[in-house]
Amino acid sequence: MNELLLLNGPNLGILGKREPEVYGTDTLADIERAVGEEVADRGWRVVAVQHDSEGELIGAIQNHYDTVGAIVNPGALMIAGWSLRDALANYPRPWIEVHLSNVWAREQFRHESVIAPLASGVIAGLGPLGYRLAARALRERISD
Ligand code: DQA
Repeated sequence: MNELLLLNGPNLGILGKREPEVYGTDTLADIERAVGEEVADRGWRVVAVQHDSEGELIGAIQNHYDTVGAIVNPGALMIAGWSLRDALANYPRPWIEVHLSNVWAREQFRHESVIAPLASGVIAGLGPLGYRLAARALRERISD
């Protein structure tokens, strides 16, 4: 077991071109590379998965129970992704929810996350750095 799952939900595949004033200019490839750098010295490889549909995200979770842990940005599925929530409930390893933007400083409909109660931790509002910090937290939390 030496792979870390990096799961990104709907509309995150177009980072860099998506509302850069909100989400910044880093692409998803930049973020995947950064997470890889953070965990390289643990000998972990990043399995990066992005899907716009909930079903495919669920399939990715079910196919990666043998990963060391996960970083999950559910995008708008945070709001009502009940099936994603149930899939994560059965994911056997620690995982951290990340949002690039500070969702609590935005519209009311972004203030609740149905997956957050299951996460080991939640990071929001720090842009791409949030993914790096999540990777560092998992490095600390997961022993060999
Ligand atoms: C997001 C915040 C969500 O509210 C939004 O729907 C996204 C991105 C973030 O990373 O800030 O798609 O998860």
